Amino acid sequence: MKNSLHFILLLLFLGCSSKKEKEVIITTNNTYKQSEMAALMLQMYAANLENKKLILEGKTPADFPDEFLNIHTAKLTDASDRNASFNSFSEYYLKTLAQVYTAKDSLKLKHNNAINSCIACHQTTCLGPIPKIKKLLIK
Ligand code: HEC
Repeated sequence: MKNSLHFILLLLFLGCSSKKEKEVIITTNNTYKQSEMAALMLQMYAANLENKKLILEGKTPADFPDEFLNIHTAKLTDASDRNASFNSFSEYYLKTLAQVYTAKDSLKLKHNNAINSCIACHQTTCLGPIPKIKKLLIK
């Protein structure tokens, strides 16, 4: 315990700061233990930033990223976040995102619907990243 397993519990400022205080485990070699869900969220953020860019260039995002279906199984920092409400927000998000990849028209509107579904879930689980997510909206 003394040498190998010094676990220091810190409050998380990075991800979900506001609503609940969450804990991150930092080991002695200072590796930040990012949850599977946090990693997936960062991928989703990057893909939607790319979609915004494509749409502004008049292009259509081509392939729905199947790995985003992992939102149903990815391990959360706080496992108790996954409840009935979380599952329906996940479904709603995947549905609105799929509509971006199949859109024949109104791409901007469909993209913004997907981003608003990110925000809707975040308002119930994880307030911290909302200002960052809002930047994905197309004005
Ligand atoms: C079903 C609910 C839900 C949906 C939908 C959702 N999120 Fe999240 N998001 C979360 C939760 C919960 C966390 C915290 C994950 C953790 O700590 O394990 C999170 C974390 C994040 C983070 C912080 C990651 C980090 O730790 O640095 C970002 C950024 C983020 N989400 C962006 C998005 C974007 C962009 C979308 C839509 C494309 C989205 N989220 C959709 C619930 C959701």
